[in-house]
Amino acid sequence: MLKIGVLVSGGGTNLQAVINSINAGETDAEIVGVVSSRAGAYALERAKKNGIDAVFISRKQAGSSEEYERSLIKYFKEKNAELILLAGFMVILTPLFVNAFKGRIMNIHPSLIPAFCGEGFYGLKVHEAALARGVKLTGATVQLVNDEPDGGPIILQKAVEVRDNDTPETLQKRVMEEAEWKLYPEAVKLFAQNRLVLENGRVRIKEKL
Ligand code: GRF
Repeated sequence: MLKIGVLVSGGGTNLQAVINSINAGETDAEIVGVVSSRAGAYALERAKKNGIDAVFISRKQAGSSEEYERSLIKYFKEKNAELILLAGFMVILTPLFVNAFKGRIMNIHPSLIPAFCGEGFYGLKVHEAALARGVKLTGATVQLVNDEPDGGPIILQKAVEVRDNDTPETLQKRVMEEAEWKLYPEAVKLFAQNRLVLENGRVRIKEKL
């Protein structure tokens, strides 16, 4: 059974989507621990309600990003996590953490990468930028994390229609409901089934046997 660790900072609806999919028996996996960079993050409650160990690790208290990442690595290694999910985690990770779980970290981003991604594109800002540019389609992307913010190999993408009367808030909600909450559990399932193959910096999805 695949052991998963999750990093969060906020509401944790993507964490919830993965929990639901595991509980529904769609993926043979277990979430072994959730770490939040914010003390009051509702994601911690969601984890606890499901009997998952959940802790707040303070970036400030750690002093440096190196010390912070060392504590994250220690926590997840002690839990024997084999896959790390970034689920609304508002801290940019350095090569120290990325290399500790090389090829085993996923992120979800609320746009069709390479549109509206990279530094500064987080939360509602992504949807504000999409509306300002007037795109007719946006969506979500799940990718493997490497040293470049939002630059890793793409695993799955799903398009979502932009409507004339959308606000950043309505668009964010539709992208979550129609894309994010489906894509993340699906990507985790593919990983658990060993169906993601990295070839020439791209992800190929193996057919199910
Ligand atoms: C999502 O939009 C996700 O794509 C982005 O941050 C948001 C997190 O939301 N990386 P939640 O905490 O999962 O509800």
